[in-house]
Amino acid sequence: MSAGALGGQRILVTGGSGFIGRHVVAALAAAGASVRVVDLQPHPDPAVEVVQGAIADEALLERAFAPGLDSVVHLAAVTSVLRSLEHPGLTYRTNVAGTAALLEMSRKTGVKALAFASTNAVTGAMRGPAIVETATLEPLTPYGSTKAAAEMLMSAYTASYGVRCTSLRLTNVYGPGMQAKDSIVARLMRAIRLGTTFEIYGDGRQVRDYVHAADVVQAVQLAISDEQWSGPMVIGTGTSLSVIDVIEQVRRVTGAELSVRHGPAKPGEMPAVIVDPGRARAAGWSPRHAFAEGLQGVWEEWSQADVEAMTGPLSVPGVGQ
Ligand SMILES: NC(=O)c1ccc[n+]([C@@H]2O[C@H](COP(=O)([O-])OP(=O)(O)OC[C@H]3O[C@@H](n4cnc5c(N)ncnc54)[C@H](O)[C@@H]3O)[C@@H](O)[C@H]2O)c1
Repeated sequence: MSAGALGGQRILVTGGSGFIGRHVVAALAAAGASVRVVDLQPHPDPAVEVVQGAIADEALLERAFAPGLDSVVHLAAVTSVLRSLEHPGLTYRTNVAGTAALLEMSRKTGVKALAFASTNAVTGAMRGPAIVETATLEPLTPYGSTKAAAEMLMSAYTASYGVRCTSLRLTNVYGPGMQAKDSIVARLMRAIRLGTTFEIYGDGRQVRDYVHAADVVQAVQLAISDEQWSGPMVIGTGTSLSVIDVIEQVRRVTGAELSVRHGPAKPGEMPAVIVDPGRARAAGWSPRHAFAEGLQGVWEEWSQADVEAMTGPLSVPGVGQ
């Protein structure tokens, strides 16, 4: 099946009300798929069908999978590294037990393909020039370890039961619709709009790869529609930027002064993330959004956003990596 053949497919998106989920749901629906969401939160578009609740709830999953699905996009998770350090039990129950329940229901109901949002944080400290799919798994946090455990379950369900699972090891995802996030691009935008000082964790030389949400959507579509996609796939641009570089680019794009100060480094933070997305590229994926251009679109949205709404508590805490 090709990526253009999503029309008429019945697809479940867990975490479909979240940042990446909203991009995925919109793109799949635009491609003609019949999309249903499972999420703790409602979806902002009332036209989207949502089964509201937790993925570890088997009765809820039975409703979500009836009367049958072609594929599943699994995004629901404890997505914050810092939150996972504070709540390792909850992180396990959601990211591992929840994933196991989802895979069981997929097996029992004959789901053909599953795309899973994993992370390069499964690998831990870099041991070579770039992270590739064969890197040893040595996660540094409960977040990374539960994603690694979920990847192992994916591997078994592919080999034993023929549910073709692809673990998309996403780098730092940015794009429109990240007002509720606590990752660096959102924190920078919030600091500019609120006129607050941005805190750099540590010396700011830590490097990350920033991939646009639209490019992640492209990988999700390939993972559920193209038979070559299976197992781990590194999804990132292949170019990494330091926190200092990102601040400079944000200043250039927004024209804002942006005051910064240094704070303590965060525990469990990977010192560097430099990835080689060669496997995904060879399987037809190509990122289309350069950081400066993607940032422009993000700023257009934030520059018009309601400042009052930014001062309240974040509805979806998270610093996905
Ligand atoms: N954003 C990134 O930079 C990034 C990077 C790597 C991997 N990821 C992964 O991509 C996925 C999506 O990330 P995001 O940035 O959109 O996060 P998000 O926090 O915006 O969205 C996650 C969604 O999952 C839902 N959810 C959480 N626990 C649930 C549960 N038990 N049952 C049902 N729904 C539940 C939340 O309500 C939320 O709507 C996550 O699995 C995350 O770990 C994200």
